[in-house]
Amino acid sequence: MSKLLNKKINTPGAGKGKLQKLEQKWQTVVKAELTYLEDYLRESITSDDAMLQAAALGLIEAGGKRLRPALAYLSARLWGAALDDLLPLLAALELIHTGSLVHDDIIDNARLRRGKPTVSYVHGDAAALYVGDYLIGRAMELIAVYQDERLNLSLNRTVLQMCLGELRQERDFFRQNQSYWDYFRRIRCKTALLFAGSCECGALLAGADKRRVDSLWRWGYNLGMAFQIIDDLLDLAADETDIGKPTGNDLRQGNLSLAVLYALRQKNNAGLGKLPELIDCLRQKDYQVLPEALNLVRQSGGLAYAGKTAGRFLQKCEQEQQLWPESKEKRALTDVLTGFRRHINLLTTTK
Ligand code: IPE
Ligand code: IPE
Ligand code: MG
Ligand code: MG
Repeated sequence: MSKLLNKKINTPGAGKGKLQKLEQKWQTVVKAELTYLEDYLRESITSDDAMLQAAALGLIEAGGKRLRPALAYLSARLWGAALDDLLPLLAALELIHTGSLVHDDIIDNARLRRGKPTVSYVHGDAAALYVGDYLIGRAMELIAVYQDERLNLSLNRTVLQMCLGELRQERDFFRQNQSYWDYFRRIRCKTALLFAGSCECGALLAGADKRRVDSLWRWGYNLGMAFQIIDDLLDLAADETDIGKPTGNDLRQGNLSLAVLYALRQKNNAGLGKLPELIDCLRQKDYQVLPEALNLVRQSGGLAYAGKTAGRFLQKCEQEQQLWPESKEKRALTDVLTGFRRHINLLTTTK
């Protein structure tokens, strides 16, 4: 097993490094307004079952960027909605996301989440399965208060697609001949659609017209695509203490992200000739080869390629914003894009 994955589990909290500091910069834009959300979230997950309560509360209190609620909030405020009306939606989005992380950590066999041991690591996979279901169920309960079919449909469909995305990912593990399209399709489902749905539902609750709602959906979708590409880059290029979760894990488990697929296509680069064989070794659970495989991907130009691709999705967000009126919220959403760009630069130029 790699040195990285052998690191002690009791890392003292997520995010000590420079990457996390970057995240905090854009986070401050909405922080004051979202403080209400924290209490609301805690109340939403109360349960008579002590294990459920402890596991769910532990996850919420471990932090997280609250990115999806922040985006929904800003998308709604763009068109003037009040915070009180939005809290159930914001909490529901965070609970869907958190539930999906609990499930994801079972599949990924991950030991760290938000700088803390995962639910599956502490309570076992079966308990984690139900904790994830519980959080998503709670989210649907919150959404029901609006009695708005559009919200119900949007988020239900998103959750269905997230299941499909994760399923596809598992089927594509170690499949070296998969296309870039296969990769894009699964990150669309597992990640980008929840970003799109967050922005869409925020705009819907604000009573925005269809053209505006659709614009926010596209903005969220493109941001979500860039987000997952960056997250995949983090796994290849960042340090565990920087992001509060293990790194190198994607390649180890056979999740071939964009940079890896790029590296596999560089047939003229003799130095990379060994990569397919190393990936096959990982498939056979020979994890000693992981550092070498990671190094080959880093040397291939794959990180820069993935960074450029993420940048193109961010450009689409910018194009979308041209239609929106100038406002504090529009500037905040632009700040989010700036933060993402800084991340990309840091990850693709320092390695
Ligand atoms: C992690 O999402 C899961 C992905 C979609 C890559 P976040 O990075 O938003 O996780 P938290 O909520 O901040 O922990
Ligand atoms: C995102 O994928 C997970 C979900 C959308 C549920 P990852 O597997 O890349 O997320 P991390 O890296 O574990 O946070
Ligand atoms: Mg994962
Ligand atoms: Mg990841």
